[in-house]
Amino acid sequence: MLETTRRRTLQALGVGGAATVAGCSAEAPNAEQAETERQRMEQQSGSIADQVAADPTDIPGPIDRDESTTHEITLTAEEVTAEIEPGVTFDFMTFDGQIPGPMIRIRQGDTVDLTIENPSGNVLPHNVDFHAVYGTGGGAAATTVAPGEENALRFRADYPGAFIYHCAVPNLDMHISAGMFGMILVEPENGLPEVDQELYFGQHEVYTDGEAGQEGKHRFDMESMKNEAPTYVLLNGEKYAWAAANRGPIEVDQGDRVRVFMVDGGPNLSSNFHPIGNVWKRAYRDGGVPEDGDFEAYADKNIQTMKVPPGSCMIGEMDTPVPERIKLVDHALSRVARRGMLAEVDVLGEERAEIFDPDANGSSHEGPQYA
Ligand code: CU
Ligand code: CU
Repeated sequence: MLETTRRRTLQALGVGGAATVAGCSAEAPNAEQAETERQRMEQQSGSIADQVAADPTDIPGPIDRDESTTHEITLTAEEVTAEIEPGVTFDFMTFDGQIPGPMIRIRQGDTVDLTIENPSGNVLPHNVDFHAVYGTGGGAAATTVAPGEENALRFRADYPGAFIYHCAVPNLDMHISAGMFGMILVEPENGLPEVDQELYFGQHEVYTDGEAGQEGKHRFDMESMKNEAPTYVLLNGEKYAWAAANRGPIEVDQGDRVRVFMVDGGPNLSSNFHPIGNVWKRAYRDGGVPEDGDFEAYADKNIQTMKVPPGSCMIGEMDTPVPERIKLVDHALSRVARRGMLAEVDVLGEERAEIFDPDANGSSHEGPQYA
């Protein structure tokens, strides 16, 4: 059955050898294949989705378990048309209809029985490459699946951390840019330190034949992707998806320690991930975590801006001593001002003037006067 899948998949890919379906190190697709894929996506009369933006709070809870277990996990490739911003539509490719794809949360030593489904309404083959996996292509070749088929992979997660997973067919940059990436969190055996809130975001960039904000249907543009000149840079797949300007900010309570998981799908841009009005009190670069449980010694402290390369993740924790609106941005700020990248976190609580006093120009002000 798997052999049948492989043959059909290769037919769908229009290629004759398995070597071209091999994960991150895929041979470059030739221009003709790339154009064929682009045209197939364009002709696709796929389903319309109201929302591709993943809810940052909709993630699995922390693991409280001493033993290894086996998880049965299904990821479904969904090709959907949705709005990047009001009036601007685009043909996305996603895992489970959301960007980033569902956060998979397991424990070091756990086994995953993964099924990947490619519904018959889709037009392109897909697969998944997990950076959390020892094995060829992170499972990419083994999971490649044609429309109307499903495929399976079993792996054990031998090392902990926050890792990206992404589609890795030959046009992998196109598929990731269209939305096919997410995070797998492998908790170390003794878990992560307890926090009050956890949030999940994914940054990626979209290359279209239009200008940001130009109304109408935007088509994928291979040329601007080659030039790494995106139209949109997004957090969770929509312009300002989780900010007051769109679906509304995320709310947390004053005093909460808030953990942010972030995956950068790219395919090409590093993120410079900064919480405006706050700091990454503890930060785990590239999603790396200690195996000996000594998080205090391992973490970077008081980091303003975390570099998150494409194909990587970060874990950052914020303290929230004062009420404020925290803006999560890529500090390459034109991406925020002009290309759609932003999320907001509202801290609800009581002012604490000794930490932050927005009314310091009142009569009680005793410092030096300027003008
Ligand atoms: Cu990769
Ligand atoms: Cu794909």
